[in-house]
Amino acid sequence: MTTPTTTCKILFASSEAYPLIKTGGLGDVSGALPSALAALGQEIRLVLPAYREVLEQKGRIKKIARMDLPLGRVTLLEHLLPGSRVKVWLVDFPPYFDRPGNPYHGANGLPWPDNAERFALFCQAVHALALDQAGVGWKPDLVHCNDWQTGLVPALLSRHGERPATLFTIHNLAYQGLFPESTFGVLDLPWSFWSSEALEFWGQLSFLKGGVVFADRINTVSPTYAREIQTPQFGCGLDGLLRHRSDRLTGILNGIDRGWNPARDPALTKNYSLRNPEGKSANKRALQRELGLPPSAGTPLLAFVGRLVEQKGIDLLLEILPEITELPAQMVFLGSGERHYEESLRRMARLHPERISVRTGFDEPLAHRIEAGADIFVMPSRFEPCGLNQMYSLRYGTPPVVHRVGGLADTVVDTTPATLRNGTATGVVFDEASGSALLEAVKRAVLLYGEQKRYWRPMQRHGMAQDFSWKSSAERYLELYRETLGGRISPD
Ligand code: ADP
Ligand code: GLC
Repeated sequence: MTTPTTTCKILFASSEAYPLIKTGGLGDVSGALPSALAALGQEIRLVLPAYREVLEQKGRIKKIARMDLPLGRVTLLEHLLPGSRVKVWLVDFPPYFDRPGNPYHGANGLPWPDNAERFALFCQAVHALALDQAGVGWKPDLVHCNDWQTGLVPALLSRHGERPATLFTIHNLAYQGLFPESTFGVLDLPWSFWSSEALEFWGQLSFLKGGVVFADRINTVSPTYAREIQTPQFGCGLDGLLRHRSDRLTGILNGIDRGWNPARDPALTKNYSLRNPEGKSANKRALQRELGLPPSAGTPLLAFVGRLVEQKGIDLLLEILPEITELPAQMVFLGSGERHYEESLRRMARLHPERISVRTGFDEPLAHRIEAGADIFVMPSRFEPCGLNQMYSLRYGTPPVVHRVGGLADTVVDTTPATLRNGTATGVVFDEASGSALLEAVKRAVLLYGEQKRYWRPMQRHGMAQDFSWKSSAERYLELYRETLGGRISPD
């Protein structure tokens, strides 16, 4: 058994980390959890691909090693995660990573055609670093891998007797890194991996299975999602395997980063807090002005921020949008994703310019201003491994309307007479992924909003008082690392 004061050496591998590069919640988590672990005294290195966007940022980047990997010769660069003391190792291979835009797809919205090679090379680099083969003189006790882009790491490491322990975190089971069989040969992987017991998934190569099959421990980002993925409904074809590994599978809720704090958020028109909530109304006025909606203090302002994909239930929202325009309400959207959703939203905004406003693209400061300026946040996800936006909304005094799944079920308490009485009500929760259930929930939120003193303010206060700090989530991760390691931590 290890003592609580023992330092763990952790190599944290991810394909994105805020503020260097972010497309969604994985970026938020990988930017915040390593710092929270470092604050708990752990020795941590974050490893990322050296995308162009990352290399263009300020700060000193130095070369620390070269590595000859099966898929190419890479340079290892060292940087600091901005705003922290966490060292970031960047795997530099310009043919794969020095390109403009999104890490996963081109400007046409289609995945980069060489994604299998790109992330296999990244996994080979992490594998070499895990075994200290790059000559940097640092050997981790544990490699913490995140999502399919790192899935080959536990598989590659499983072939070594002397190796660090591995933890694989599933942020979203629906993205599996599936590629045609022909890709397998190109990646220079051991032939023994081409089996349904390893990386083969119904005739395709699955990066995600590398993590799910071979990692010493698996976790996901909320306790409810950890249970859900073991059912056919949410298991994306892997529920049997996950049930088989259920004694190794847990759920740890994400935290939210200190940057999401209305009392200090520099993106806001006016800062406010649980104790001084008055500033919120100035943010609402400013948001209505910015997004071209008629300023109206008493009209409930609904909001959606997120990827425009089926997962987020954007189709359900579009289905009921005509009814929403008939309510005494306004609604703002910020999102990017599938073109047809963007176009349908824009069409609705053109038809109802007084009621609906839409911004497409990725705009981090606007996301903050929306959390602060809106009254009600709508998050009707069909499934949601954790979800960060509902937690941001709670902290910003913008009670969320959510579907009872995954992390949404674990973080939002429905408003009922009982939860109002015992001071736990924080939002509106609905049970069925349908337009009618969503509409009924939105109407319920609007009614509650109408009763400011009796219902709405207490809900806002309960939500703002929740503790979603990374510290407690990082403590849970540390416990999990220790369980995974058993007695294997190196002495201080
Ligand atoms: P997911 O990771 O599934 O996209 P999360 O709720 O965990 O969902 O995290 C989404 C993160 O990405 C949040 O920080 C959210 O504010 C941000 N985000 C999503 N879409 C946009 C956008 N269009 N502009 C700015 N931020 C966005
Ligand atoms: C994924 C999930 C989201 C989660 C995020 C961070 O993108 O879709 O629910 O919050 O990862 O773990």
